[in-house]
Amino acid sequence: MRQPVPSVPDLVAAQKPGHAMAQAFYTSPEIFEADRNAIFGREWLLAAHVSELRNPGDYVLFDLLDDSVIICRDADGALRAFANLCRHRGSRLCIAPRGNLRRFTCPYHAWAFNLDGSLFHARLLEDHHDRDALGLFPVALELLEGLIYVSLAKQPTDFAALRAALTPCLAPFDLARTRIAHRATYPVQANWKLLLENYNECYHCASAHPEFSRSHAIHMTEERVTPLNDAMQARAAACGVPTTLVDRIGQSRREGETDHAYNRYALLDGYQTGSEDGAPLAPLLGRITGHDGGASDAYVGMLNPMLLYCDHAVLYRFFPIDANTCAQEIIWLVHEDAEAGRDYDLDRLIWLWDVTTRADKRIVEANARGVASRHYVPGPLVPMEQYIARFITTYQATLTQQETTG
Ligand code: FES
Ligand SMILES: [Fe+2]
Repeated sequence: MRQPVPSVPDLVAAQKPGHAMAQAFYTSPEIFEADRNAIFGREWLLAAHVSELRNPGDYVLFDLLDDSVIICRDADGALRAFANLCRHRGSRLCIAPRGNLRRFTCPYHAWAFNLDGSLFHARLLEDHHDRDALGLFPVALELLEGLIYVSLAKQPTDFAALRAALTPCLAPFDLARTRIAHRATYPVQANWKLLLENYNECYHCASAHPEFSRSHAIHMTEERVTPLNDAMQARAAACGVPTTLVDRIGQSRREGETDHAYNRYALLDGYQTGSEDGAPLAPLLGRITGHDGGASDAYVGMLNPMLLYCDHAVLYRFFPIDANTCAQEIIWLVHEDAEAGRDYDLDRLIWLWDVTTRADKRIVEANARGVASRHYVPGPLVPMEQYIARFITTYQATLTQQETTG
């Protein structure tokens, strides 16, 4: 029989600094419900790329647990986001995951809504109803360098400081002028936090990712990494690649901002990009003039990491499904003019992060099975896992804040 789960404040009070979290955080349906509201109902979420919404009437759906958001380009060219439900009796409005429409028409009783969300037509609705009050529910949307984020929160965290800090870091890559070369979803039998924690540390890279470790210097000691980074910084300056360090994870949250970070680090000698043989994979992005042999880690909020090479970008999305299941989606971006077969080979492009994500799936699923055991006790983190420690602090503070504010 399942033991009753202690309350969130009790679990947080019992958290040992510098240690993994208690079992309940990774297995309990009650904590999963708390995550659904406090984390996924509050954080900014990567919902779409601007290349998916080039023309008026284009729309894509962003689905997360019970919520679905329509992101569309309206008749005037503005991007908008709405809760994907009809204002009559609440049916899902759009069923197909993407398309181009002049109006949204409900499949149930055919109420129709304009692309700006206003009610266009409601057959047989009596005149005394206020039609202006029956538009689609807007959802907060922010566009950052071609990446479209939504927040399900009534009062989303501020995006302005993030935008001011990250725009100069991202602008040279011109992600607005990229397109999606490939996307893949990897189902993972584990709580979403085990997957995110795994993403946040490279302690496992040497043992679990021989392919990644051959080319990326991130898992090495500081003495080995510093000269590589110094050499890369000089090349980056010559190629127009930003190397400014931005780190506003955790502390920004206390000031009502959205977490954000940017860091460029060196690849190992002989590697110009994240390829199997070190050779370039695709045409250079944006205004970048050459390969600096580096990769940038950037974060928009707690849940949206991305990795920027000179010739492609890799976006990560973490989808919670239930207490014991989640999914990792990977999206590969290339220059918008790049053509598969002519300018890049798709198999070569996706090789590294496909093989690495398959390995992550294996180790995270094994982690989840162990954490579910009656013998599990949270163990100590090593200094290389500092970002997990920070994630745990931020995550638990967010959960506690939600518990107290409701
Ligand atoms: S629920 Fe949409 S028209 Fe009735
Ligand atoms: Fe990994």
